[in-house]
Amino acid sequence: MDDTAGIAATHPIVDRPRMTVIGTGYLGATHAVCMAILGFEVLGVDVDLAKLDALKSGRVPFYEPGLPERLAEALDSGRLHFTDDFAHAAAWGDVHFVCVGTPQSKESNAADLTYVELAVTELASHLTRRSLIVGKSTVPIGTAASLADIVHRVAPAGEEVELAWNPEFLREGYAVKDTLQPDRLVFGVSSSWAEAQLRAAFEPILNLGTPLVVCDLSTAELVKVAANSFLATKISYINAMAEVCEATGADVNLLATALSHDSRIGGRFLKPGLGFGGGCLPKDIRAFAHRAGELGVGQAVAFLHEVDAINQRRRTRTVDLVREIVGGSLVGVKVAALGAAFKPNSDDIRDAPALDVARLLAAEGASVLVYDPQANENARRSYPELSYADSLEEAVRGANVVALLTEWQEFRDADPKDLGALVAHRRVVDGRHALDADDYRDKGWEYRALGRPAQPKTVALVSDVRDEALIPS
Ligand SMILES: NC(=O)c1ccc[n+]([C@@H]2O[C@H](COP(=O)([O-])OP(=O)(O)OC[C@H]3O[C@@H](n4cnc5c(N)ncnc54)[C@H](O)[C@@H]3O)[C@@H](O)[C@H]2O)c1
Repeated sequence: MDDTAGIAATHPIVDRPRMTVIGTGYLGATHAVCMAILGFEVLGVDVDLAKLDALKSGRVPFYEPGLPERLAEALDSGRLHFTDDFAHAAAWGDVHFVCVGTPQSKESNAADLTYVELAVTELASHLTRRSLIVGKSTVPIGTAASLADIVHRVAPAGEEVELAWNPEFLREGYAVKDTLQPDRLVFGVSSSWAEAQLRAAFEPILNLGTPLVVCDLSTAELVKVAANSFLATKISYINAMAEVCEATGADVNLLATALSHDSRIGGRFLKPGLGFGGGCLPKDIRAFAHRAGELGVGQAVAFLHEVDAINQRRRTRTVDLVREIVGGSLVGVKVAALGAAFKPNSDDIRDAPALDVARLLAAEGASVLVYDPQANENARRSYPELSYADSLEEAVRGANVVALLTEWQEFRDADPKDLGALVAHRRVVDGRHALDADDYRDKGWEYRALGRPAQPKTVALVSDVRDEALIPS
């Protein structure tokens, strides 16, 4: 059910700046579509002509639930257009959102700012009137200030062009809802004029009562990386506890449940498993630590290196579990690898833990068959050396072990009895703590998960006590 429907209708816009959205990937395409839905005239700009053609013809070039319907609606409204012409975009728009990628640099942990610098320079070189450039990409602290210098140097309108930062917090899989109904908005600005432009651009969302923080450029840049660092730390914290559990025989799932009842801690992002990946968290915490080092405060976030290391260890430990469950060697073992995307409801395979595990298994001689409900195509393009199945059934048929690596609902819903009839051996490694361990065990499976004992303890202990009580003294 789409509970975002009707937002535009109930919040008419008084003063509508014309917007361009530069970079129409996961973030930019969603932002452009949603802004058009909210009643603004929007021009999406990209250098990737194939992507532009797809969007123009109503096809979202990636998997995002709800976005295709919203794209159709936005195109039908006549308010959404696409171009690769920066001169046209500069002449047409009042507020320009920059949504291009900031991947990890090939040489270091730093963010690669090439795309942001190119996009901003190209746009600014055509800006002949007062306008606002708004960065949404995730960038290291200080980027906005240096981009502002570039803008003032290359824009024909000079200081008339201002730069603001509006970090984006959307989650893939929930991108439409997160854009139309964000938890908060952050405006990093250098003037009240810039703030007024942003207030006008987000008026329908502010009218919903969305909390707004107005701050300087550096704080706005920092909010995003600080939020991602916190979330990554919470995930790695419970995964560090999983490592301790493995050494002690404790059960990390019960531990997480007990911790989550503490309202000061809460249960979100406290899910043990294979850890985080994707196009944001890993590169963002690395870039943050790198930038903090440059600023002379590296020690303040030195813990992020450990957060990253804990996260990476979960991948190799998952391979260890698969090796253990099949008896010590992966050579010739048929593995059904369920999942390729970095998380469910996305086809994004950037830094995907699932594919790292699949490749490590294959490197040890396993015969790995990958199945993902949406990401097979992306995975095949990037890792043609792996084999892919077109269905869950095909993936598990004849498998010696099943490894659940991305917790798609399809995998949660599968009946262990039905799967058991297809596999060669009923062995499952639940890399995401997503399956019902008791149900699997009841249906004859050997079940293993990171941070959980090989055998369920509580049941064994109760029956042990009973058995002892029956023994005559
Ligand atoms: N994906 C997310 O969930 C998400 C969430 C919050 C923040 N972010 C941040 O948003 C930014 C974009 O991420 P994404 O996932 O959308 O990346 P993406 O790779 O999906 O999209 C980037 C787009 O920018 C285009 N591009 C590159 N150079 C360009 C140029 N010079 N001019 C115009 N377009 C250009 C690319 O062709 C591509 O379509 C990153 O900084 C990311 O960290 C992403």
